[in-house]
Amino acid sequence: MTKVTVVGAGNVGATCADVLAYREIAEEIVLVDIKEGVAEGKALDIWQKAPINAYDSKTVGSTNDYSKTADSDVVVITSGLPRKPGMTRDDLIETNAGIVKMVTENVIKHSPEAIIVVVSNPLDVMTFQAHLTSKMPRTKVLGMAGILDTARYRAFIAEELDISPKEIQAILMGGHGDTMVPLPRYTTVAGIPVTELIAKDKLDAIIERTKFGGGELVKLMGTSAWYAPGSAAAQMVESIIKNQKRVFPVCIKLDGEYGIDDCYLGVPVILGKNGVEKVIELDLNEEEKALLETSRSHVKEVMGVLENIASK
Ligand code: NAI
Ligand code: 2OP
Repeated sequence: MTKVTVVGAGNVGATCADVLAYREIAEEIVLVDIKEGVAEGKALDIWQKAPINAYDSKTVGSTNDYSKTADSDVVVITSGLPRKPGMTRDDLIETNAGIVKMVTENVIKHSPEAIIVVVSNPLDVMTFQAHLTSKMPRTKVLGMAGILDTARYRAFIAEELDISPKEIQAILMGGHGDTMVPLPRYTTVAGIPVTELIAKDKLDAIIERTKFGGGELVKLMGTSAWYAPGSAAAQMVESIIKNQKRVFPVCIKLDGEYGIDDCYLGVPVILGKNGVEKVIELDLNEEEKALLETSRSHVKEVMGVLENIASK
């Protein structure tokens, strides 16, 4: 039986569980939250939608009882505070690190073989926290951000060209934040380089909007996004569970790739049943390398904040 646990039954977690269920990505989906009854209620609601939308994935809820999560193939961690207006992702670090640590300990106790997909922010550093706590191979503790950020970038390009977003292929690297590195050189529209279809100034504006894409939604809604983030996490789960070996930007600890050691960053990877099957190393030009270095040094700084908290 394929089984996926989603920890955190808030906006992102519940959306992810819903997508996993209606797209029948796993046979059983367990939703866990610390708030009494919330996960049970949302799991029941998703299950009661099954006859209407015609799917048979079973959804189960649990208030902090991890025995129900036993033997999960993949665990998605969305527990933590979302970003509020005026708050940076980094402000969230101390609270969310404590939550991610506790959740990871519970998860691995019951599913020592599971692949962990972290969503909680600040993303790259929460992936670091989950990796530290789980002590699992780096290829099995991954962060979701690149699929979301690329989706925003692709959606803006599709809007600009007035064509289907399905036609846009793109890669984006770096940390999940304002230093992320969208790569126009690796962006195509049905195989046509995007640089042939969109003028540089317009493309630069799209790149800027993408970098601040999370903040744009926080400003509009007073909290961070969930439809695209929940779907993006479910897409990672699907590639793992079905061993699809799709290529996505995923946050992983780099061990020498791109000349970077000991830093958690988004890079293109092949995602399959073992988690990251391979990190793809692109031949970046000098400008792209410089942007990636800026992103690396920002993430490293926030990793330092976490290390300081942990050593107290
Ligand atoms: P939310 O507030 O709607 O849901 C969070 C849930 O976590 C709540 O239901 C809360 O009760 C639960 N929770 C808190 N502590 C817990 C614990 N110890 N064990 C189990 N559950 C616990 O927040 P939302 O919007 O779902 O966002 C969740 C996280 O995802 C935030 O940190 C947010 O910043 C992040 N996020 C990351 C994105 C990415 O691209 N990586 C995109 C969007 C959000
Ligand atoms: C987002 O990018 C806030 O990380 C969250 O929507």
